[in-house]
Amino acid sequence: MATMHMSVRPEDLSQLPKGKERTPDAGILVIFGASGDLTKRKLLPALFHLCQSGLLPKRFSIVGVARRPLGDKFAADMREGIVEFGGAEPNDPKLDEFVKRIGYFPLHFDDPADYAGLKVELDRIDKQMGIGGRRLFYLATSPEFFAGIIENLGAQGMAHPDHGLAAVVIEKPFGHDLASARELNQQVNAVFHESQVFRIDHYLGKETVQNLLVFRFANGIFEPIWNRNYIDHVQITVAETLGVEGRGPFYEKAGALRDVVQNHMMELLSLVALEPPSSFEAESVRREKLKVWRAIPSIPVLNAVRGQYGPGIVDGQHVAGYRDEERVSSESGAETYAALRLEIENWRWAGVPFYLRAGKRLQKRATEISIQFKQPPLLIFDRIAANAACSVIHPNLLTIRIQPDEGIALRFGAKVPTTPEMAVCPVNMDFDYESAFGKSSANGYERLLLDAMEGDQTLFSHRDGVETTWALYTPILEAWAAKSPEKFPNYAAGSWGPECSDRLLERDGRSWRNDLGRKA
Ligand code: BG6
Repeated sequence: MATMHMSVRPEDLSQLPKGKERTPDAGILVIFGASGDLTKRKLLPALFHLCQSGLLPKRFSIVGVARRPLGDKFAADMREGIVEFGGAEPNDPKLDEFVKRIGYFPLHFDDPADYAGLKVELDRIDKQMGIGGRRLFYLATSPEFFAGIIENLGAQGMAHPDHGLAAVVIEKPFGHDLASARELNQQVNAVFHESQVFRIDHYLGKETVQNLLVFRFANGIFEPIWNRNYIDHVQITVAETLGVEGRGPFYEKAGALRDVVQNHMMELLSLVALEPPSSFEAESVRREKLKVWRAIPSIPVLNAVRGQYGPGIVDGQHVAGYRDEERVSSESGAETYAALRLEIENWRWAGVPFYLRAGKRLQKRATEISIQFKQPPLLIFDRIAANAACSVIHPNLLTIRIQPDEGIALRFGAKVPTTPEMAVCPVNMDFDYESAFGKSSANGYERLLLDAMEGDQTLFSHRDGVETTWALYTPILEAWAAKSPEKFPNYAAGSWGPECSDRLLERDGRSWRNDLGRKA
């Protein structure tokens, strides 16, 4: 397929603001579960990126909290993580300065005495650095510890300090079904006011995800056709080539529906489907998202399918099946793939199917949204039988590449030159983030950490949103739990998932778009 690349001229780039021109007030960031992967791979690299851009206050300290007595080894480990995952130069003097801000405090999550000790330590750092009592507690532990940590912070008076401010960031998954999410919301709100709570979904920190709002509402030409009159259907794919990467025990309990669909994919769906918010304020955006989720009628269990990978070849390498992964049951029924069809019952979307799929160990890593438009009412042009791409007239397709190869492409038909017939072939107009704006080393957490430090909840989930999305998926999770999958594993690693997923779309006369990624 032919491709036309569109680029931004250098003189346009000079007009762009460089990063966010704001710095939060002094504070201490306390990370619970700091010895886990997230802290090393994502959080500390993101904090270092903020520091490099001059967006961290001078009086700012990071305290890692976990059970093991790590002492100074913690800061050294984080330094390694920042180099390995954050692209920092090992000899960067700024990195040495940054690492001096990292401390560690060992704590048993269920021991109130340890929290009393933590409070003393935080007060000491606060006094030494003149921080003024601002604290951000980041819960990056396994979810079963969230409620206990929150209760202990409350009991020690750390949620409502006499001086300063406190807020809490809570990682996903927020609960494992509707009942547990409700219970956790109650436990959290018994200690923290909703305005102090930041339920994080790192997808919302991705530039390309935020760009969905800009694309739709900062341009006049798409909104008039963004509805059931012009759109045939929408596909959202979160395809990963990675397996469970040592997270067997977590994944055994979670599965793809809880891990990715209920949160990341529902956020993507809401941004594609929402009505124009009245402003980019937290309340307006959240209200519109909630309306979308509430307009989704219950999803028939038959419209949801699951899969699990067996052994196969990914990127030229033989890889094990899920059941052979570390700390995974040899008879596991956990789904590593989920796909479903849903509808949104409102005036804009009635009758337009949304197909969602998420899977591990698929053929290609790609998170993409594709909006397929309807065919013109009459096809008056020729097709070239000898050329596969041009043998059918393809409908217009808008693809939004969330990652990798971040960008947006629009497919349309063009006349094939020099042929006597009026033959039509599909071509692509392609906007590529990297060539327009340069490469970014940001991982999404930069923006979200900065927002949480500043108390801006726009890009965080509200309790109602979390409960509404769980309400949609809980019946499917219950039906799946009640009936063991018959044919697991049902797809080979390195494929595009199980056959039942293809059949889900075939029923509607459609198929998954598997030519994901940027066209050469
Ligand atoms: C996490 C999931 O929330 O998102 C992981 O727990 C998944 O299983 C990851 O791999 C995907 O994130 P990203 O940013 O790599 O698309």
